[in-house]
Amino acid sequence: MAASGEPARPRQEEVAAAAAVVVVGSCMTDLVSLTPRLPKTGETIHGHKFFIGFGGKGANQCVQAARLGAKTSIVCKVGKDSFGNDYIENLKQNHISTEFTYQTRDAATGAASIIVDDEVKTLFNPAPAIADLDPRFYTLSSVFCCNESEAEILTGLVVNSPTEAGKAALVLLERGCQVVVITLGASGCVTLSQAEPVPKHIPTEAVKAVDTTGAGDSFVGALAFYLAYYPNLSLEEMLKRSNFIATVSVQAAGTQSSYPYKRDLPLALF
Ligand SMILES: Nc1ncnc2c1ncn2[C@@H]1O[C@H](COP(=O)(O)OP(=O)(O)O)[C@@H](O)[C@H]1O
Ligand SMILES: *[C@@H]1O[C@H](CO)[C@@H](O)[C@H](O)[C@H]1NC(C)=O
Ligand SMILES: *[C@@H]1O[C@H](CO)[C@@H](O)[C@H](O)[C@H]1NC(C)=O
Repeated sequence: MAASGEPARPRQEEVAAAAAVVVVGSCMTDLVSLTPRLPKTGETIHGHKFFIGFGGKGANQCVQAARLGAKTSIVCKVGKDSFGNDYIENLKQNHISTEFTYQTRDAATGAASIIVDDEVKTLFNPAPAIADLDPRFYTLSSVFCCNESEAEILTGLVVNSPTEAGKAALVLLERGCQVVVITLGASGCVTLSQAEPVPKHIPTEAVKAVDTTGAGDSFVGALAFYLAYYPNLSLEEMLKRSNFIATVSVQAAGTQSSYPYKRDLPLALF
């Protein structure tokens, strides 16, 4: 019994049970279909894979913390249905306390229908570059885009000209990228791909550069725009247009302040 005047202390096992990370957030069941493209409204298309996954931002964070060794608890509510039962089982398997996880008959467990089409591209910009970049970054990138100095760090080669950039690009391609792009400042860029493994130099307009800060980001942003919205353009055409946009950005001061808007650019780019 505690001496009088001392606050009551929790018993030792209660202290041990307290979670260090408590997440209040969602548990969602992901219904994931992999398809060659997204269906149009009302259209039925064939997918090539389907799986059910455990998702929801709250639960994802909780699972990551738990897997790193944190004592975790999630405060959430799922439906009294099979998805809800499975989710609670998943939390237990990840050693997450379900003491405050509730089930209700009034609503269904949250579900997210996710369609991942084969055309979603990953554009990777290895900035700042490190020589021992995890090799998976190469194989997982559809487009690997870096500047001269990053190419030098990654390959150990000197990159000062389009010819040298072509050699470095080949080394990067051999590490497993689908497409490599090396930007070369006023000289534009060099590219090659698994489909066309011969380096191609894509020059840009000669302009009076005012401030080249952020030109590479302008270029990468433009390229991502074309990959997402104009996937039918040839890679060469996307790179010509990205060069054009980045070259506009070097003619004004600042970084984001120099990035042009669609309304400021020739219609032919869209
Ligand atoms: N002096 C310049 N004149 C014209 N275009 C430029 C100039 N500098 C950069 N650019 C454009 O910006 C792109 C990216 O520039 P770069 O200097 O290679 O990237 P970073 O900003 O990463 O160093 C180039 O491919 C080119 O299209
Ligand atoms: C390339 O990008 C890096 C940022 O990762 C930057 O520090 C470097 O100055 C750039 N190189 C050139 C040649 O512009
Ligand atoms: C892109 O090309 C495909 C097949 O080549 C065609 O079916 C589709 O309509 C084109 N999309 C656009 C936006 O031009």
